[in-house]
Amino acid sequence: SVFNHSIDATDKGEFRHYMMKEIYEQPKVIRACLEGRISDNKVLTSCFGADSGFLKQIENIHIVACGTSYHAGMVAKYWLEELAGLPCSVEVASEYRYRKVAVPKNTLFLTLSQSGETADTLAALRMAKSLGYLTTLAICNVPSSTLVRESALTLLTNAGAEIGVASTKAFTTQLTALLLTSVAIAVENGLSAQEESALVDAMRSLPAYVESALAEDEHIKKIADRFANKHNALFLGRGAMFPIALEGSLKLKEISYIHAEAYPAGELKHGPLALVDEDMPIITLVPHNDMLDKLKSNMQEVAARGGELYVFADKDTDLHNEDNIVFTEVPKVDSILEPIVHTIPLQLLSYHVAVVKGTDVDQPRNLAKSVTVE
Ligand code: G6P
Repeated sequence: SVFNHSIDATDKGEFRHYMMKEIYEQPKVIRACLEGRISDNKVLTSCFGADSGFLKQIENIHIVACGTSYHAGMVAKYWLEELAGLPCSVEVASEYRYRKVAVPKNTLFLTLSQSGETADTLAALRMAKSLGYLTTLAICNVPSSTLVRESALTLLTNAGAEIGVASTKAFTTQLTALLLTSVAIAVENGLSAQEESALVDAMRSLPAYVESALAEDEHIKKIADRFANKHNALFLGRGAMFPIALEGSLKLKEISYIHAEAYPAGELKHGPLALVDEDMPIITLVPHNDMLDKLKSNMQEVAARGGELYVFADKDTDLHNEDNIVFTEVPKVDSILEPIVHTIPLQLLSYHVAVVKGTDVDQPRNLAKSVTVE
């Protein structure tokens, strides 16, 4: 439970902090995560091990994880239900392990963990093993970890060692691995060869999209100055971008110590709107799909109350800088990839805010990289 890597400044190369180095490694590690797992037009089910027969038996999925990994699980729920049409539930391990869980037949138990040593996630897995699941699959970044050893099946994220306590590349590679998994399950549940091929093409472009998202770094650094004296921030998303809003708010809390919350934008009127005034930055993640217009009207609700909007969107959304809107461009991508690509500017934002505030970016107070005690 202690952070005990010896920190060698040269390991950071040109970067001031591990977190920034790890943010910039994402195109490379996402490529590594896809390596050998896709062909021209298919997800290769051999990535789940020799016997991928379980894929066609799955009727339900339970995802259990903590922290940032939990947010990755929340995104996967949207993908699994959309692509495979299978019911999926997602829960934090510290809750799951202490309640009576009803397990429908042929349910896959899926854990997500960067370290593979999180005490609550391990306890959840051990409990799950007695509950009659179809099988247990771990998506994990550490091959030698306890979680990998104790799970029946493993899909490694291949992100390389992550030193910064705030998880970045481990998260986006978890999402990549979850997308592979979602497509593999969907193929057994009616996804056409043509749709699979289109999704695989999109995945292959992912490293390049992440690279272009990183190009906004200088612009985001300028925006970060405006957060230095803020005490609160509100993140909004809808659909699979809601968990990304949660992840953005977690990153900001973890390393800049600014209180941040995330809401699905449609819930604004049920409470958080009361918090909106000139001092409240509202970070809005704009998906380019049929929710775009809904989101634009949510933004108007905020603007009408004097809220300062920080909008992250592709340029074809027709959004741009205005009096109360600070616009940041995110590359236009296939909508299935939006949660991954939109993560990048939020990582950069929290990083630069923390640097402006002078906090300990790589080792934030009170937090540990891996929580091996309850
Ligand atoms: C700690 C870390 C987080 C991480 C969480 C779950 O709180 O600081 O970054 O998301 O544990 O860790 P895991 O290794 O299971 O993904």
